[in-house]
Amino acid sequence: MPKRKRKFNAVSGMFDILPSEYPLWLKIEEVVSSIANFYGFSKITTPILEEEELFVKGTGQDTEIVEKQMYSFKTKGGKRVVLRPEFTPSIVRAYIQNGMESLPKPVKLWSFGPVFRYERPQKGRYRQFWQFNFEIFGDKSPIQDVLLIQIFSDILRDLSLSKWIVEVNSIGCKECRSYYLRQLKNYYKNRLREICPECEKRLKKNPLRLLDCKEEKCQRVKKFAPQIVNSLCEDCHQYLKRVLEILDTIQIPYVLNPYLVRGLDYYTKTVFEFVPQDKKEGQSALIGGGRYDYLINQMGGKDTPAIGGAGGVERIIEEIREQKINILAKRVERFEKKPKMFLAQLGELAKEKSLTLLEEFRKNKIIIGENVGKDNLKVQLEQAAKLGVKYTLILGQREALEDTVIIRNMETGIQEIVFIKDIVKEIKKKVK
Ligand code: HAM
Repeated sequence: MPKRKRKFNAVSGMFDILPSEYPLWLKIEEVVSSIANFYGFSKITTPILEEEELFVKGTGQDTEIVEKQMYSFKTKGGKRVVLRPEFTPSIVRAYIQNGMESLPKPVKLWSFGPVFRYERPQKGRYRQFWQFNFEIFGDKSPIQDVLLIQIFSDILRDLSLSKWIVEVNSIGCKECRSYYLRQLKNYYKNRLREICPECEKRLKKNPLRLLDCKEEKCQRVKKFAPQIVNSLCEDCHQYLKRVLEILDTIQIPYVLNPYLVRGLDYYTKTVFEFVPQDKKEGQSALIGGGRYDYLINQMGGKDTPAIGGAGGVERIIEEIREQKINILAKRVERFEKKPKMFLAQLGELAKEKSLTLLEEFRKNKIIIGENVGKDNLKVQLEQAAKLGVKYTLILGQREALEDTVIIRNMETGIQEIVFIKDIVKEIKKKVK
């Protein structure tokens, strides 16, 4: 009897990207890369294999990812390693290890690559999937949270996806969260018979995760659970209020979801997820992220506020296909040159207007530097000088109120005032 030859299949939950699919993948990377370059993010690629401990400490010991979903094994040398289940702890490691802590802030890094989670494979949920990942280190201003949300909105819009909404919440800081957790535990302790066995464990180990459970009976209990937004300290409350105000001003569609907690342990204050507008049962987020002001310090670095987020490429491709969108013909601008101008701002209103102005410039393919989280005008002018730009646009408190901008010629020091609505036209004349 001749031996039957065995045919092999890819490992369950993992897929080939076929030549016929490549144009779409490349287009997505091109769109992400263009927006990353415009907003001053530098690309970083870290190894796929990392020490297991990095994620136990970073992602969190009691998260689903670390407890159940890591591809971990021992190397021949006896070291425990994992295929990265997400980017964030790796980027933080690389930032500290490579001396990037001494760079001027904020440090903005983006990545594109595969990550691995041992989940039950189903539509939109794979064991190897690709993420585009953005991190901003060293800025604690709420404008930066909104800037990141604006960046992700741009990516979806540039991919012609419009049927999504951003869910936003705050999960507070060390102080207010411990008060909230006590309330949450008390609420659930009285309802032990109404929750699943997994949630009983969560109540002991990581009560915030109770709000993440997808079991129907647990969803019913969650409906009346205390909401963290009612327990935020004054600082976190004001912070969330500001984030929502700016989102309103720049007209990004969002809802406040008081039960959004995210499945990773490092978050503080703002958390967000981009979800399809008419989300079907079981359908999950396209993009998710949040602020994580303690992680860098926890991982051995200096006390550094941070915010980031990541999008799932396969899920976005599924949306594009479902909506029968043809993005292959779309021309994507490459922003590889250095900025010829810089936008400096002062005051809260000016910051809000800066976000819209930056988008105007991006749409008009004019690259412009910024540091919207900074409050000090002198520091921003010094940054502009260092970049060697010919013009700096100054949007101060008075200009923001009057809807004007100052154009400062950095070589001659001559300044002129123009209306915001005319600024792109004026600049086009100057930098032609
Ligand atoms: P995450 O929410 O775990 O966040 O993942 C981000 C995105 O990856 C999700 O919104 C989804 O599109 C995609 N994704 C997650 N799991 C799967 C899966 N099994 N199959 C297909 N796609 C999936 C993070 O990973 C954080 N590191 C984001 C972040 C960066 N936060 C701060 N900085």
